[in-house]
Amino acid sequence: MPELSVAVFATDHDQRAVLQVLVDGTSVAHTVCSNSTMPLAANDPVIRRTQAFTPDVILVDIATDGITSALRAVELLHQELPDSAVFAVGPMTQPQLIVSAMRAGVREYIERPTTTTDLLEAFVRLSASRRKPGRESSRGKVFTIVNAKGGSGATTVAVNLALALQSAHHSAALVDLAPLGHCALHLNLKPVFTVSDAITNLHRLDSSLLDSFMARHDRGLQLLAGPAAPSAIEPSASDFARLFDTIVGLFRYIVVDASSRLDSATRLVSNLSEKILIIAHADVASLWSAGRVAQYLGESGSRDRFALVLNRYRKVAGFNETETEAAIGAPVLWRIPNQYFAVSTAIDRGVPLMQQGNTEIARSISGLAEYLTKDDLEVKRTAWSLFKTV
Ligand SMILES: Nc1ncnc2c1ncn2[C@@H]1O[C@H](COP(=O)(O)OP(=O)(O)O)[C@@H](O)[C@H]1O
Ligand SMILES: [Mg+2]
Repeated sequence: MPELSVAVFATDHDQRAVLQVLVDGTSVAHTVCSNSTMPLAANDPVIRRTQAFTPDVILVDIATDGITSALRAVELLHQELPDSAVFAVGPMTQPQLIVSAMRAGVREYIERPTTTTDLLEAFVRLSASRRKPGRESSRGKVFTIVNAKGGSGATTVAVNLALALQSAHHSAALVDLAPLGHCALHLNLKPVFTVSDAITNLHRLDSSLLDSFMARHDRGLQLLAGPAAPSAIEPSASDFARLFDTIVGLFRYIVVDASSRLDSATRLVSNLSEKILIIAHADVASLWSAGRVAQYLGESGSRDRFALVLNRYRKVAGFNETETEAAIGAPVLWRIPNQYFAVSTAIDRGVPLMQQGNTEIARSISGLAEYLTKDDLEVKRTAWSLFKTV
């Protein structure tokens, strides 16, 4: 993610300093100018000065005693700097104020007092939205796989989806973000390095160093493995932002196995993802959990990238899919059949389903891979027809 330049507007001296520290602390953005006055008219010199910096983001502080002037400033800045995204930092307790700020042209409304994580998530969302297909096609797409609850099949889906994408497109990576990494076991790999080595070396992480941290499966899939023991040091969300920035520059498709990990890292990676697949079973407890997971991960962004994958699917009398979708707020995107013997022997032997020929479950997962990439312009039909004969 290219570093974003930010212009800060805050009349309060302390708040100005705090915002600058928080912006710079995200390490994906830096403050280029800091202003103590709000513009009052289009020809205000502060507008010209700001234009000279061509900031990606303009951060306007809405202080409780300066609401009118801050809203006026948002309107003017939005009008005079149409290529910059205006973010407001203000109180969440006044819904009318949030609506007015949005109407004035605010792209993100962030709670005041704010945190580095809130700002980071907003910056990542802005970068991701600017990276829509066609604009920067060399950057890979991320698919994040989480489970509704442990044992739903996130790792099974992530491993086999990554293999299916590798088989069809020859440029896929699997990143294991689960609290305890199981992907290496599924793939029968013995990685020397893990995600934490990549994070520890972020300051010098380039494509060749990242490559040396990854384990290569004999089908060509590259794995950045998860920890074999719970980690004592928790990397920050900005560390993950930088790690993924390098990864998306290297692979066309990146599958992330988050399994049961629900924290700011998964939320950040979700914000970067093309799709977030929640793996659930068609029972009440699993679907209830799926709803909670979608709510947590989607709290600070749009929910339209979330989808349900029903694993171990069987037709159950009385199970109403439309009602489920409405309750969870995400569509059922795919159904994967229940094949306990095939799946458990695949895991036990370390020979994934996709390597075991033409089973119903392997066809289902390659169908999912095909569905997820169907709108990608460069995807050649032949790639899939070859793959389907496996
Ligand atoms: N489609 C399926 N059919 C039958 N059993 C499955 C299926 N998918 C997963 N399983 C079983 O569920 C267990 C948990 O799967 P796993 O992928 O480790 O889940 P998670 O990562 O969500 O905890 C596996 O050991 C496997 O035996
Ligand atoms: Mg798992």
